[in-house]
Amino acid sequence: MKKILVWDWPVRLGHWLMVGGFCIAWLTGDSETFRLVHVAAGATVLGVATFRLPWGFIGTRYARFVDFVRGPTAVKDYLGSLLKLEPTPHVGHNPAGGWAIVLLLGLGILTGFAGWAIYNDIGGHTLEELHEGLAAAMLTVVFVHLAGVLSGSLLHGENLVRAMLTGRKQGSVESAIPSARPLAAVLLLAWVAAAGWFIAS
Ligand code: HEM
Repeated sequence: MKKILVWDWPVRLGHWLMVGGFCIAWLTGDSETFRLVHVAAGATVLGVATFRLPWGFIGTRYARFVDFVRGPTAVKDYLGSLLKLEPTPHVGHNPAGGWAIVLLLGLGILTGFAGWAIYNDIGGHTLEELHEGLAAAMLTVVFVHLAGVLSGSLLHGENLVRAMLTGRKQGSVESAIPSARPLAAVLLLAWVAAAGWFIAS
């Protein structure tokens, strides 16, 4: 076992942009003064989440949905191993974490589009309520996600937060991805900027 490259650049950059975007959007949600900041932060979440969908099909091995979106049996088995405090190791996302990721991406897209509609005076009060409800649901999943990351890090004895920064985790050499795909990360930045322009205009 060695430190091998697992997370490509779009996954890592997208993740931390999403963290920043979500936190800022949450903190500025009720403020008139920071309305534009809120819109830009929400657009960042929307941009990252919509980029992540195609990347889940054409990205590197562990970025692909087929690698981590698993059926109920795999989720149950993983949670069972977690409860026994001996979680089955996974080079990429584990089957339970995979569903939290799907939820976060889906909620990010729905919340972002609802926000865009509200900003364009579509949907009225009902959509505002929905937007807030979706954001609250997302915050709940974020807490579950953080609990999973913390417990996973402790039980696997591996700092998963650092892995999301460096892209490297413990694994066999043949499990490594061949490239971090930095050019795709530049595309991600362009896409996020385009989402900001689309929402604000
Ligand atoms: C400071 C807070 C956070 C930390 C430390 C953190 C940490 C992590 C880590 C370590 C992973 C990889 C998990 C694994 O090894 O399988 C991950 C994945 C992920 N996290 Fe977070 N997370 C945070 C907040 C958030 C927030 C606020 C969101 C969304 C609003 C989010 C969305 C995601 C997504 C979508 C993935 C999957 C990445 C991908 O495959 O593209 N995270 N996070």
